[in-house]
Amino acid sequence: MLSRRAFSLLIVDDEEGMRLGLEKALSLEGYRVTSAATGAEARRKSRGEKFDCAFVDLRLPDLIGTDLLSDLREAGTAVVIITAFATVDTAVRAMKLGAADYLQKPFDNQDIVALADRLCFGRSGARPSGALPGEGLVAASASMQNIVGTLRKVMDSEIPLLLQGESGTGKEMLARFVHSQSARAARPFVAINCAAIPPDLLESELFGHEKGSFTGAHATVTGRFEAAGAGTIFLDEIGDMGASLQTKLLRALEERAFEPVGSTRTIPLSARIIASTNSDLAALIREKKFRLDLYYRLKGVAVTIPPLRERREDIEPLLSFFLDTYRQRYNKPGVEITREAVRFLGSYQWPGNVREMKNAVESAVLLSEQSHPLLPRDFLLEGPGDASLPELWQLEREAIVEVLKKTGYNRSVASRELGMSRKTLYNKMKRYSIK
Ligand SMILES: Nc1ncnc2c1ncn2[C@@H]1O[C@H](COP(=O)(O)OP(=O)(O)OP(=O)(O)O)[C@@H](O)[C@H]1O
Ligand SMILES: [Mg+2]
Repeated sequence: MLSRRAFSLLIVDDEEGMRLGLEKALSLEGYRVTSAATGAEARRKSRGEKFDCAFVDLRLPDLIGTDLLSDLREAGTAVVIITAFATVDTAVRAMKLGAADYLQKPFDNQDIVALADRLCFGRSGARPSGALPGEGLVAASASMQNIVGTLRKVMDSEIPLLLQGESGTGKEMLARFVHSQSARAARPFVAINCAAIPPDLLESELFGHEKGSFTGAHATVTGRFEAAGAGTIFLDEIGDMGASLQTKLLRALEERAFEPVGSTRTIPLSARIIASTNSDLAALIREKKFRLDLYYRLKGVAVTIPPLRERREDIEPLLSFFLDTYRQRYNKPGVEITREAVRFLGSYQWPGNVREMKNAVESAVLLSEQSHPLLPRDFLLEGPGDASLPELWQLEREAIVEVLKKTGYNRSVASRELGMSRKTLYNKMKRYSIK
């Protein structure tokens, strides 16, 4: 386990008492702490040092726009917003600003130390559950913000959640988000893909079984429901669950208890259930392949995540998030992206949704050469793109190369011939990697 000395924190608050208090509380616990009274000072200091975590007062006098927050986030700092009024709106706003979490005034020093621990040690990978609360969930569009707002309201209740949406829209991501932000965060998150487990094994996988209860049951086995304890059970691809198991699941949900296969032992069900599906449950119900009563049980709160093409405001934030992630992961901090590529990806249909983007960005960064900013063609996509866009830049690139060759690489003459300023030509040459 790393010691707290390994992490450096930044406190940004204009109130001196608050600033000194926080500084003292955190440094007494072993953290390295720097503080700043203004957004400008914070930005200056964050250029000189990389902070693991920053606590920023939402009401800083010079915190105009979101610059400081996005700068910090880009530097890999987890940002905690401090606010006097924590409401769902504040939470959503903080999320929108890219905050990892928020803290409401007044708070105990213990709270802030616990939060710093969670963010720092979660980040170093020392915590087994991995994902940082709030970290890594991009939700810039109005529809995603609504979803996050709804989920926050029911976060700590027992009410079952049903997440629907096309493949790759982020159903599992949201399920993990709800778990990690809820009071159950320290308990297990147990994910079961109902489509990946053979139907005749799924029941014992979920509920466990007694030794000798069926051929091959050589020992008593604890089921996933029992293993989840008071954590979260994520039932992925619920539409693929067979009829008899649907009945048993319904009973378990109604009685908040279940019995392992071949056992008379009754085990209480204390976990929160989150089910997800990318199949059309309404159609399955009509075809009598899915029980209507189970559907009603599961959809305590139902959320439908729109496909990425219907929330285009998320495309650019997701793009920069994944670029940052893979620049860091593959140690290629210098990878740049052309405006053409951004425009191209912004107009693409994304049939594979966020997962498709994540994979496309990962391979583009991995295969990129440092000297060459990413072009539309560097992104390997599943579906047909809007062909006019890459063609346009390709034509432009070809035209520039041709004129440059013709003029013996004389930029002044070439720019006149191309009808653009020298500066524009220079920029385009850089963007298209024309040497
Ligand atoms: N809003 C988001 N912000 C950041 N990453 C996201 C977001 N949504 C999805 N992702 C990432 O995209 C990938 C696909 O998401 P996820 O596995 O949650 O999709 P899914 O809806 O469960 O898909 P499927 O139905 O195919 O299982 C994951 O790697 C996830 O981390
Ligand atoms: Mg999934």
